[in-house]
Amino acid sequence: MQKVAIVGAGRVGETTAQVLAQQEICREVVLIDIREDAAQGVALDITQMAPLFHFDTRLRGSSDVSAMAGADAVVITAGVPRKPGMSRSDVLEVNVKVVDDIVDAVLRHAPEALILMVTNPVDVLTYRAWQRTGWPRERVLGQAGVLDASRMAAFIAMETGFSTCDITTVVLGGHGDAMVPVSRFCTVNGIPVSQFIDDERLAEIVQRTRDGGAEILSLRKISSAYDAPGAAVAAMVDGIAHNRCRLLPGVAILDGEYGMRDIAMGVPCVLNLQGLAEVIELPLTESEAEAFARSAQGVREDIGRLP
Ligand code: 2OP
Repeated sequence: MQKVAIVGAGRVGETTAQVLAQQEICREVVLIDIREDAAQGVALDITQMAPLFHFDTRLRGSSDVSAMAGADAVVITAGVPRKPGMSRSDVLEVNVKVVDDIVDAVLRHAPEALILMVTNPVDVLTYRAWQRTGWPRERVLGQAGVLDASRMAAFIAMETGFSTCDITTVVLGGHGDAMVPVSRFCTVNGIPVSQFIDDERLAEIVQRTRDGGAEILSLRKISSAYDAPGAAVAAMVDGIAHNRCRLLPGVAILDGEYGMRDIAMGVPCVLNLQGLAEVIELPLTESEAEAFARSAQGVREDIGRLP
């Protein structure tokens, strides 16, 4: 992949750019922010890491959306984050306006790109971008599950002492309080995690995963999470850029999978150069399917609030 544009040079945008550059996931990263000079500052700062980490990815910052021209992927992180006590849905009204403008800019300047939505509420805004562009669902994705699954894996590693390298987790549903961590599919190198953690502790880890973003927000106080979110975005871009066919949880438009359509939700996605190659359907138990449907209900309610 040659060029990735990141719209929103706030903390998530900055961390994403840093990981993309440090791991040389693409040749060029363009950061765009409406705040005059802010993106240029971030780009220059990361560029000055290059001699220390030996990367050749070029970074550029701009306050002009036309700088995204020719991008293979446009990552949208712009918008307001929630404040302590707020849910992700509480920022919908403000962020939909921000995202609409950016999507229109993508249509004008990077009509061949793939959109990766990060701005919250991410499921609803991924849906919005898909509707507004009229593009096939392959090219409009959102990031949430990679982050949520990584949080759950970190908690399981903390609990068991095993290396995070060996822990696999599955989190489905909307990126909200009703998200669905599926502990039945979580393993330590193929061994069900229930062999190492009892049901009660596992239920606590599931809940801590659901509250993962709020926990960071309550600790950081003046900002929501950005280190793990930025790394999660970069992991998705990496799967796409290197045509890896990675199976990662992503926000995708459903087209009959899980018995749903016309909604964006977190599901296992196969990612390759086209973007979304396939949505994988998992056989869910009755209670898991109920939890997924509850989470979908919340996303549908927010979709109903779209102007
Ligand atoms: C999180 O979960 C900000 O939604 C993001 O931390």
